[in-house]
Amino acid sequence: MDLEKKRKKLCKGRGKGEGKVEVESSFSICDLPDAILQLIISSLPTKEAIRTSILSKRWEHLWRDISNIELEEGEVEERRQFMHFVTRLLVTCNCSSVKKFSLSCIVGEDANLVNEWLSGFINPKIEELSLQFEEIPEPLVFPDQLFTCATLTEFKLDMQHVLKLPSSVHFRCLRTLTLSNIIFSDTYSTQRLFSGCPALEDLSLIDYNLKNVEVVCIYSPLLRRIYIRENEDDMLDEDDDDDTGGLNVTNSCKVLIVGTNLKSFTYHGDCMNEYFLVHSTLVIDASIQVQVPRTGTTPGK
Ligand SMILES: *[C@@H]1O[C@H](CO)[C@@H](O)[C@H](O)[C@H]1NC(C)=O
Ligand SMILES: *[C@@H]1O[C@H](CO)[C@@H](O)[C@H](O)[C@H]1NC(C)=O
Repeated sequence: MDLEKKRKKLCKGRGKGEGKVEVESSFSICDLPDAILQLIISSLPTKEAIRTSILSKRWEHLWRDISNIELEEGEVEERRQFMHFVTRLLVTCNCSSVKKFSLSCIVGEDANLVNEWLSGFINPKIEELSLQFEEIPEPLVFPDQLFTCATLTEFKLDMQHVLKLPSSVHFRCLRTLTLSNIIFSDTYSTQRLFSGCPALEDLSLIDYNLKNVEVVCIYSPLLRRIYIRENEDDMLDEDDDDDTGGLNVTNSCKVLIVGTNLKSFTYHGDCMNEYFLVHSTLVIDASIQVQVPRTGTTPGK
């Protein structure tokens, strides 16, 4: 049986029919067990997956156990529709089945709603999580269970805001962590985060902000790849937005990286912070690109 072909056929049918889909009577896709059909449905874009509910009585409920949800806000004019769609999805799908969740949207005045989505979709068995938020007026509330999730293997978080961490952080299986635009709130919680990832292999820190942090040690015995990009100009621009939580612009952080298995180290930036590589004799692939800071544009210096 060629599943891929069937999936294509199914998608094609749906695309053309827009609500009037005919599944050929001899077509054996319906002979497949629910579990397989759910896998197929989960591989479709979320909106398409939900549309499979119109195929037949049996399909009406199949999509609810969808394991992969990807939600990306589109045009500004369609925001209301998007908000409505996600809120409906939250109450209709079986959130306990979601293993892979991706959400990208503007928060704006809907922080409460976004917090509701986060606590609904992020279940304790989640495996991959990708969150991207813009225009965040107040700290978002991530469910505490996220930070002690034992199944999470991949976590991407992109938000230009202070990351508030609970007192306990332990990602037992987290292998890939990508943090973009995050403002770390203080030395202790930042250390808690990096100490709570014992299985980390791949770490990317992009335009992050360590102004409130004095020193942090990034250590994981399995750490193989580190990518760091920081740009002082970006950070200073953020300060103007007044949502950075009263940063100390003149502060630079000492970042200790202890990676006995580190194979690749990439740094692009202007040395806002100081980096120390410790016990990293095995680095095979290092790329360090330092930009000369522009003079005359740095206030407070
Ligand atoms: C929801 O999903 C979980 C995990 O896949 C499953 O055990 C449970 O039976 C489902 N609940 C319903 C109401 O279908
Ligand atoms: C900013 O950090 C520097 C160096 O640590 C310190 O001397 C200074 O007092 C700090 N300023 C503020 C406003 O916190």
